[in-house]
Amino acid sequence: MRILVIGRNGQVANVLARLGAAGRHRLTCLGRNDIDVFSRRAIEQAVLRFQPEALINAAGYTAVDKAESDRDAAYALNQFAPRLLAEISAAHRVPFIHLSTDYVFDGTKPTPYKPADPIGPLNIYGASKAAGESAVLSANPAAVILRTAWVYSDIGSNFVKRMLELGAERDELRIVDDQLGNPTFADDIADACLRIASHEKLRTGAAGGIYHFAGRGEVTWFGFAGAIFDGARLRGRRTPAALVAITTDQYPTPARRPANSRLDCTLTEATFGIATQPWEAGLKICLDRLLV
Ligand SMILES: NC(=O)c1ccc[n+]([C@@H]2O[C@H](COP(=O)([O-])OP(=O)(O)OC[C@H]3O[C@@H](n4cnc5c(N)ncnc54)[C@H](OP(=O)(O)O)[C@@H]3O)[C@@H](O)[C@H]2O)c1
Repeated sequence: MRILVIGRNGQVANVLARLGAAGRHRLTCLGRNDIDVFSRRAIEQAVLRFQPEALINAAGYTAVDKAESDRDAAYALNQFAPRLLAEISAAHRVPFIHLSTDYVFDGTKPTPYKPADPIGPLNIYGASKAAGESAVLSANPAAVILRTAWVYSDIGSNFVKRMLELGAERDELRIVDDQLGNPTFADDIADACLRIASHEKLRTGAAGGIYHFAGRGEVTWFGFAGAIFDGARLRGRRTPAALVAITTDQYPTPARRPANSRLDCTLTEATFGIATQPWEAGLKICLDRLLV
């Protein structure tokens, strides 16, 4: 199957590029140096050239704190470009998968969020992704939007790599313990995208809408850090002597973050037959790649 991916070096895009290089599907991944995602003409030319049977948008403005002072850039990549991709995918009848985020929610729900729950982003990043979701679905109602969360990988910048860097040099780390979420391995997201891309319901447009996909099981950043350091110790690495649990108020950041952004993924499983794996399983693979 010919699949065109927007993004090449990002966490999810890089896994897709690796899978393409390994011969899984006929994947073409276009990074920012390969395509101008703000140009309708450039996107149209890529679609005409590669004749994809599915289009996956793995590009996004993901710097949550930086977005607070870089609003236009965040909206350009998270709303304007996805709208163009959705319009062109609809015009050329190419099934379209777009990635979004748990940060569209305000975190006040006491249980995991379902796709139809009301959104209420607390920060510019979340608001720009929410605007992208509406733009995509109004331009192409057959598109599938996959919201994911707390993405980590052995490449790129993410919490796992940051903890390993800090843990190697500090004796004490203070980590937020009152935000609950689902760490999600980029490999699992890439795999889910490919399975949706080849699913008949995407091809027929019968499943257009919003879905959730995130690691199974919930944890706070503090708990996630603890698991990262347990894994690092097992692999013979130095870890901090003390991990201190703190509250969000004790760690001010430019962007506010939801206290709960757990995603209920049952609709994705019911619609596409894709079950999520426990977040610990992906973490083990990731640490093996990084540390063994
Ligand atoms: N990271 C998370 O924790 C997280 C959580 C929830 C949802 N998500 C969503 O998941 C998706 C993938 O996230 P990720 O973590 O894989 O992203 P990432 O590692 O931050 O990579 C960003 C991607 O966006 C592309 N990009 C950035 N600026 C660009 C520009 N000006 N023009 C064109 N492309 C540009 C990059 O292109 P190159 O390939 O050329 O570098 C790269 O492929 C995004 O939609 C994100 O919102 C992420």
